[in-house]
Amino acid sequence: MLFAFVSVQLALRYVAPSARLSNQWDTKIGAALADSITCNSVVKAFGAEHREERHLSRLSFLWSRRTLWSWVRGTNSANLQASYTLIMRVVMIGLAVFLWWEGEAGPGDVAYVLTMMFLIQGYLRDLGQQVSQVQRSVNEMEELVALFRLTPGVEDKPGAHPLRITQGGAITVQNVTFRYPSQKDPIYRGLSLDIPAGSRVALVGASGSGKTTLTRLLQRLYDVQEGAILIDGQVIADVTQESLRKQIALVPQEPILFHRSLADNIAYGRPTASRAEIIEAATFANASAFIERLPEGYETMVGERGVKLSGGERQRVAIARAFLTQAPIIIFDEATASLDSESESLVQEAMKRLMATRTVLVVAHRLSTVRELDRILVFQKGDVVEDGTHSQLMSQQGGMYRHLVELQSLEEEK
Ligand SMILES: Nc1ncnc2c1ncn2[C@@H]1O[C@H](COP(=O)(O)OP(=O)(O)OP(=O)(O)O)[C@@H](O)[C@H]1O
Ligand SMILES: [Mg+2]
Repeated sequence: MLFAFVSVQLALRYVAPSARLSNQWDTKIGAALADSITCNSVVKAFGAEHREERHLSRLSFLWSRRTLWSWVRGTNSANLQASYTLIMRVVMIGLAVFLWWEGEAGPGDVAYVLTMMFLIQGYLRDLGQQVSQVQRSVNEMEELVALFRLTPGVEDKPGAHPLRITQGGAITVQNVTFRYPSQKDPIYRGLSLDIPAGSRVALVGASGSGKTTLTRLLQRLYDVQEGAILIDGQVIADVTQESLRKQIALVPQEPILFHRSLADNIAYGRPTASRAEIIEAATFANASAFIERLPEGYETMVGERGVKLSGGERQRVAIARAFLTQAPIIIFDEATASLDSESESLVQEAMKRLMATRTVLVVAHRLSTVRELDRILVFQKGDVVEDGTHSQLMSQQGGMYRHLVELQSLEEEK
């Protein structure tokens, strides 16, 4: 019993702290490696291989020290356990021999003690090993369990019902105040907007003014601190996240693709789509021409996150993916920013056709692309400072939109 107690104490107080630290360093070194490898093109572009190597070797030196430390403590603990059983054996056998010498024990007693010793010895060794194994496994599981226990930032309310599209995707933003968890000041303070179903709205404004953030709030990737966002009269915080996001197709600012075939990537929002529908969506997005030129066509694997495609190609695949979902609300966040003027106008034509039946939000820096939309919202530091059609906003002397358009047309003339 004393041996079991000592083993457990050693495992918990001596080995576990160092094993925990060594596991943390395993994670750190993994993260550092992943970071350097995924940014490998940046490393090359800046000729920073040596710097990265030094950075990694410093980390791996620290990691190896922690690992060695944990290994030494594990070995010390095993040695201590072995010494303990050795001493115990010597004492017990010595005692048996002493009693025999004194005439208080017969040869049978000595033989009995010896065989018992060997038996118990084996059990104790197993016990010691089991204790350290359990300790190691628990240490290794700790990070995983901690991850598992994290509560999601956004959760479905108990009894949340699916979102029902009854009016075709009307969006209402009521008095919304929002800041990111890591921010001190809110981006939006009491923002209110009303976007009727079927309207086509542009969000324009300086970089960092909160356009992408609005699209994230609509998908409820974050919860607002005050106010509410409604789709077809239902507060989005009260409906299930899955049903909400199914009703919104998004072409993100930086499209990310799976390392799967082009067909799988395009059909991601509607996996049951037939090949004909996939090709139709690709044609709409002006992507079919480049896809058909590839030797494996729609079966081409696109590489991790889509690295084997050009920026514009990736965007067109993302547009095709959004077209295929048939969601009533579509958001284009700088969706045509990497396209040449010709592809852009083709894609815009397709967008126009698709927009006819949906509520559409278009974030754009190039203002010529939003001229024909029903309404333009101009963002400035998280506030909508102007709201109207192109011609209405252009007629405002000294208006922000007019100023931006003039700046851009000056640039184009140059
Ligand atoms: N995940 C985040 N955590 C903390 N702050 C963020 C996060 N994402 C964006 N921000 C900050 O919120 C502000 C608004 O960002 P947002 O992405 O909405 O800008 P944007 O209008 O889309 O700009 P751009 O035209 O450059 O895409 C920025 O100041 C940005 O630094
Ligand atoms: Mg943005």
